[in-house]
Amino acid sequence: MTTLSTLNKFKKDGTKFTCLTCYDSMFARMMEKAQIDTILIGDSLGMVVQGHNSTLPVTVADMVYHTANIARSNEHALILADLPFMSYVTLPDAIANSRQLMQAGAHVIKIEGGSELCELVTTLAQAGTPTCVHLGLTPQSVNVFGGYKIQGRGDEAANKLLEDAKAVVKAGAALLVLECVPAELAKAVTQAVTVPVIGIGAGADTDGQVLVMHDMLGMVHGRVPRFVHDFLTDERNTEHSVEGAFALYKQSVREGSFPNSQHEFS
Ligand code: KIV
Repeated sequence: MTTLSTLNKFKKDGTKFTCLTCYDSMFARMMEKAQIDTILIGDSLGMVVQGHNSTLPVTVADMVYHTANIARSNEHALILADLPFMSYVTLPDAIANSRQLMQAGAHVIKIEGGSELCELVTTLAQAGTPTCVHLGLTPQSVNVFGGYKIQGRGDEAANKLLEDAKAVVKAGAALLVLECVPAELAKAVTQAVTVPVIGIGAGADTDGQVLVMHDMLGMVHGRVPRFVHDFLTDERNTEHSVEGAFALYKQSVREGSFPNSQHEFS
């Protein structure tokens, strides 16, 4: 079973680890077979499961439902679950909603933002709830960004992101996710913090990689993001199976062949 200690050891010895989003039981079982290290019940389920065009409509009840489905079906992975949009603005809301996700089977709660989350991160850590802070392109803030855009470009933005990362780690964050940031910045953050960093569209130098499961199985509605690779139709997946795609993803991340320079931003 993967724990935070496993991931910390991976960071120390340079073993690249895998994360995939997952929302239902059968896929969670297949990910267990492929020994995917960590699973994220992402609020991306608003798009890939519910058909919305953003993560904003997702509720705590939705997240609890999907988290429980996964927790029943996978004993290998460390399970991360998103607190959805506006469910952690106040400390009492954040605590009550985190409790629901942890009781549904999450091991780590993921929240989006920067240093403004420090008080919440410390409070949850003291209450036995590890957090993963998602920085860079944080989809719950799509209306602040004015679209899904690369973040952390330019010295000022890069510095702010680096300082935010250090601050939340100092406050007690157990993991970081970096989404759609220049590869060089992701490398600097990964080297600057003591906790494991998981990247998506953040280059090859983060400690772990995450992809939305539907994307890596070639099920994309609209434009395929640059950082996505279709592991289902990859010729190395000789069985052309979903399980084969998960196994190939794990192998590719471990050996360092995914992601490569074609998948990163500068
Ligand atoms: O909700 C999600 O799937 C995510 C990943 C893109 C990291 O946050």
